[in-house]
Amino acid sequence: MKGEQFAAVLVNWQTRHGRQTLPWQHTGDAYKVWLSEIMLQQTQVTTVLTYYEKLLNACPKVSDLAAASQQDVMQLWAGLGYYTRARNLHACAQQVVERFGGVFPRDVADLESLPGIGRSTAGAIASLAYGVQAPILDGNVKRVFCRYYGVEGYPEQSAVKKQLWLIAETNVPRANPGQYNQALMDLGATRCTPRNPDCRQCPLNESCVALSKGQVNQLPTPKPK
Ligand code: ADE
Repeated sequence: MKGEQFAAVLVNWQTRHGRQTLPWQHTGDAYKVWLSEIMLQQTQVTTVLTYYEKLLNACPKVSDLAAASQQDVMQLWAGLGYYTRARNLHACAQQVVERFGGVFPRDVADLESLPGIGRSTAGAIASLAYGVQAPILDGNVKRVFCRYYGVEGYPEQSAVKKQLWLIAETNVPRANPGQYNQALMDLGATRCTPRNPDCRQCPLNESCVALSKGQVNQLPTPKPK
């Protein structure tokens, strides 16, 4: 499938079968999208929901979070784990206020210059909050691409990662980049799962390289020992 058709199939699938009702979706609020993406980096959606509401209640605006004490932020994060995220969260809020006047930038390079925001999270924020044509490549998306394109080699190895980013850049559509990226994440979370993927209910099953070669359980290639 060509890039535009690949995207159209995924967007259509997301409309029917993807997650639509999470509180940070359809808000156009980059602060909410950023907060959810940082929490979702290492935590499941159901757990995130509770912490997301609690933190937004305490800090409705990025300026509230910037002005909170380190102790308050750590307390709001307590239980979520990976506490570097909480320190970066606080520092990021302060920089958004100081460097960007309290508005999250829409430029991917500007987003990546902020603490705790890597290339994929920057693409997620830019596309989901602002409709910018920016790719993402998190763990779920790497798995979808490795299987669909039959990419071999450990995905964290630099040559493989480079190949996957190229695929990500080539496919992201001009129209609905946010919904397309959401589709990739939802597909990886609900169909193209690490174990027992549900290929029968996958919108990409007719042209998936791994499925046609019987390699779904061999890809992505595991970490070399
Ligand atoms: N994991 C990371 N970002 C996500 C998102 N926007 N939706 C669902 N899972 C995610």
